Amino acid sequence: MTKVLITGGAGFIGSNLAKKLLERKDEVVIIDNFNDYYDPKLKQDRIKVILKGYKFKLYKGDIRDVALLEKIFKKEKIDKVVHLAAMAGVRYAIENPLIYADVNVLGTTNLLQLSAKYKLKNFVYASSSSVYGNNKKMPFSETDSVDTPISPYAATKKATELMAHVFSHVHGLPTTGLRFFTVYGPWGRPDMALFKFTKNILAGLPIDVYNRGKMSRNFTYVDDIVSGTISVLDANLPYGVMNIGGDKEETLLRYIEVLEKCLGKKAKKNLMPMQPGDVPSTVADIKKLRKMGWRPTTGIDKGIQNFVEWYREYYKVK
Ligand SMILES: NC(=O)c1ccc[n+]([C@@H]2O[C@H](COP(=O)([O-])OP(=O)(O)OC[C@H]3O[C@@H](n4cnc5c(N)ncnc54)[C@H](O)[C@@H]3O)[C@@H](O)[C@H]2O)c1
Repeated sequence: MTKVLITGGAGFIGSNLAKKLLERKDEVVIIDNFNDYYDPKLKQDRIKVILKGYKFKLYKGDIRDVALLEKIFKKEKIDKVVHLAAMAGVRYAIENPLIYADVNVLGTTNLLQLSAKYKLKNFVYASSSSVYGNNKKMPFSETDSVDTPISPYAATKKATELMAHVFSHVHGLPTTGLRFFTVYGPWGRPDMALFKFTKNILAGLPIDVYNRGKMSRNFTYVDDIVSGTISVLDANLPYGVMNIGGDKEETLLRYIEVLEKCLGKKAKKNLMPMQPGDVPSTVADIKKLRKMGWRPTTGIDKGIQNFVEWYREYYKVK
């Protein structure tokens, strides 16, 4: 049996991943600090509802607390880590760069150091499509240069990739960084577009549409992110960085149209200029992960419908 430490396991992706690993009888240990960047109740409820009926270990704590991490590694005899804990919002990072550097860089380095010390079999961590910054070449490929990030968040994610490379090279720790492309689905984050749009449309309020809607994304359904993460977790590659994204480039306006259809209600669109730190287009070249047998299976019509069903039920809105 494999024992996996999931950092940020009460988060959107972490809680969904934990469920899949528990389903296949891996042992799961979670660490999360339940911070209030967004409503911590949503994090508590993910643990309570998504992981209901499963046996797992939960530590409420901070990845910057090395003593606590060391205690967990020693006591739990962890085999592998999926490191997802991070300060994750792009826009909040512009105003609050210090906490991003602290959690994302220092916290990740703590985990890499202990994973090397305890000779873990694999260390898989969340990077982000935002490392590509204003890359003009589409789709974004792992071989493209990512030396010019345009937000503190992106810079910290690039820094974690560099740090992981050091630990793979010097200590032989297997590490793979996954560059997630706009993840969405049930239990999603309140600071992300789909959640904010849904909330406002249902309340009859306008939605802010940045860059006047001239944006496109490879939106990636959370179950596809989870299955790709598990493929990489099982592969124990010596070192790698991989894109993980949906296989269709979708415009923001179509994303909104699908949402309107699922909600049965039209959005009042507030067309806004581009936000600092944001990028107009993120499209993934996913050949590398495809070669490992992975492919995304859920498109936005089904994915948004699933989100809306969850939202209506969770927040009890018609
Ligand atoms: N959701 C996306 O579209 C997306 C895209 C690219 C990258 N990512 C990355 O994927 C990972 C997971 O993202 P998510 O969408 O599930 O975000 P999330 O915010 O829902 O999950 C992150 C979790 O980490 C926890 N956490 C934050 N700081 C911590 C600390 N110091 N100690 C312990 N726990 C801490 C939070 O409480 C939260 O539960 C993050 O690293 C994020 O940067 C996400």
